[in-house]
Amino acid sequence: MKDNYARDITYLRLSVTDLCNLRCRYCMPAEGVPKRTHADICSVEELVGIVRQAVRCGVKKIRITGGEPLVRRGILDICRGIAALEGVEEVCMTTNGTALSRMAAPLREAGVDRLNISLDTLRSERFSYITRTGCLTDVFSGIEAAYAAGFTGTKLNVVLMKGFNEDEIPDFVNLTRRCPLEVRFIELMPVGNSDRAAFLPASAVLTACPELEPADTSGVARRYRLPDGQGLVGLITPMSHRFCGQCDRIRVTADGRLKPCLHSDQEIPLRGLDGDALYRAIQAGIVAKPARHRLTETGRSDAGRNMNQIGG
Ligand code: GTP
Ligand code: 5AD
Ligand code: SF4
Repeated sequence: MKDNYARDITYLRLSVTDLCNLRCRYCMPAEGVPKRTHADICSVEELVGIVRQAVRCGVKKIRITGGEPLVRRGILDICRGIAALEGVEEVCMTTNGTALSRMAAPLREAGVDRLNISLDTLRSERFSYITRTGCLTDVFSGIEAAYAAGFTGTKLNVVLMKGFNEDEIPDFVNLTRRCPLEVRFIELMPVGNSDRAAFLPASAVLTACPELEPADTSGVARRYRLPDGQGLVGLITPMSHRFCGQCDRIRVTADGRLKPCLHSDQEIPLRGLDGDALYRAIQAGIVAKPARHRLTETGRSDAGRNMNQIGG
């Protein structure tokens, strides 16, 4: 269905937990987040119920996010339940990849169509630094496992950070020479813990790799390719080029609150509702979607939550 600005809302980002096995510096506090009780987060049935009503509102694509979705107990049941719903055309997941060597094949069997994997560096020491707890080889084996399980259209998400990974831009771009991957560089958004001083505009990618040729636009990414490349390079520029005018998405947090916009504190509680009442609440959220974010004017997000509680 269309919102008040004639944008067709067809995409739901569903966070299934705010917990994560990593502690990325721009996303999570070092000590992690307090573990909530089961009663505080939506059950498998509640999540599937929310998606069922969102589909009635016109949603066709679901992206399962976190925190890290693969630490959520019952994640395969959630995927299976969502994939089985009539009207759901694509089930995707954004993951840090560390558990994929074990989970890629079961996820594929549970009906997940496509994966986006977050990876900000190709160097072990840097990976341990930025994630505070992670091991880079886990992500590499996860990417291989995703490929072996038959996933196609896999994307790597690289958050650009000045003084951290800008010297790795050519290495990431070079991955697309031989691999049919899409590497997407994301501008760091001022949400929660992120360090504003580390912001680097995505244009730095085009400066570092002038051989990139424009391809097309896909979702929030403008895409490029190397002349002889198998894969694609995407630029996600929420800061330097706002894409709110084409926004097609809503979000639901693990505690069952609908966020019409990533960068707004407006939230509509969905828990305790079902059937037509739930449908009407989601419809109201779509109608209430703001025209755009004000990150660039105010220098901060009004999201009111850390990124791990929204799912990006
Ligand atoms: P595709 O289905 O592959 O197009 O994935 P996606 O880009 O929608 O999802 P993903 O989880 O990989 O998100 C990539 C980056 O884009 C993350 O940093 C998100 O925070 C950011 N992002 C996604 N949606 C929005 C949005 O509506 N607004 C803003 N500002 N950023 C977004
Ligand atoms: N700015 C930009 N991207 C972010 N992500 C997490 N926090 C931020 C931020 N402050 C990314 C993750 C993941 C995606 C869901 O959001 O790296 O790829
Ligand atoms: Fe976990 Fe993703 Fe946040 Fe890193 S960015 S701490 S992987 S939720």
